[in-house]
Amino acid sequence: MKLLLLYSHPVESSYGAALHAKTHEALVRAGHDVDDCDLYAEGFDPVLSREDRLAYHTIPDNRAKVAPYCDRLKAAEALVIVTPVWNFGFPAMLKGYFDRVWLPGVSFELVDGKVQSRLQQIRKLGAVLTYGGTPLRAFLAGDPPKKIVKRVLRAQINPFGSVKFMAHYDMNNSTPETRARFLAKVGDAMARF
Ligand SMILES: Cc1cc2nc3c(=O)[nH]c(=O)nc-3n(C[C@H](O)[C@H](O)[C@H](O)COP(=O)(O)O)c2cc1C
Repeated sequence: MKLLLLYSHPVESSYGAALHAKTHEALVRAGHDVDDCDLYAEGFDPVLSREDRLAYHTIPDNRAKVAPYCDRLKAAEALVIVTPVWNFGFPAMLKGYFDRVWLPGVSFELVDGKVQSRLQQIRKLGAVLTYGGTPLRAFLAGDPPKKIVKRVLRAQINPFGSVKFMAHYDMNNSTPETRARFLAKVGDAMARF
């Protein structure tokens, strides 16, 4: 499948970078045609400016400044996200990618005031997340990143599509063993994705 891999971590030596490398390698091994989008390395500008907001509903002018990113999203038949959790959300870099690229006329259209998805070609969604906090702490906070993956993004891809959510919680107390175990689990899952 043509697969868009969205990765958002600023540090090359991080555990997130190791998860990204493992995910990429396993997806290629599985035979996917992977478009590896490293948002920090590509210098993506995540700020939706005043000008962007004014043009937001004007199709197709709204995509002018991010057209290559829109094309890459529209070409994808599968989407995998690798990111840490910051303030129980996505890092501003990844949040801004959704703000600026998942535009009217690109990822959805408003028809008679109702949102209609335009990402039906995406039939598989995967997410590899790391949390500093425990599963209980995330649960008590409502675990917004998990809901964004399993509910918000899920609702925008093909209704018959599948979702694979994987997370290493409690990174604050992680050990070489827990990190190695999760890395291997991600490699196995992505090799079968
Ligand atoms: C700015 C920032 C905000 C964070 N906010 C949260 C949070 O709200 N919940 C949480 O569980 N962990 C939070 N963390 C911890 C990160 O999720 C954790 O450091 C990361 O998953 C570890 O991966 P890394 O070593 O690859 O960065 C935060 C970390 C940073 C830097």
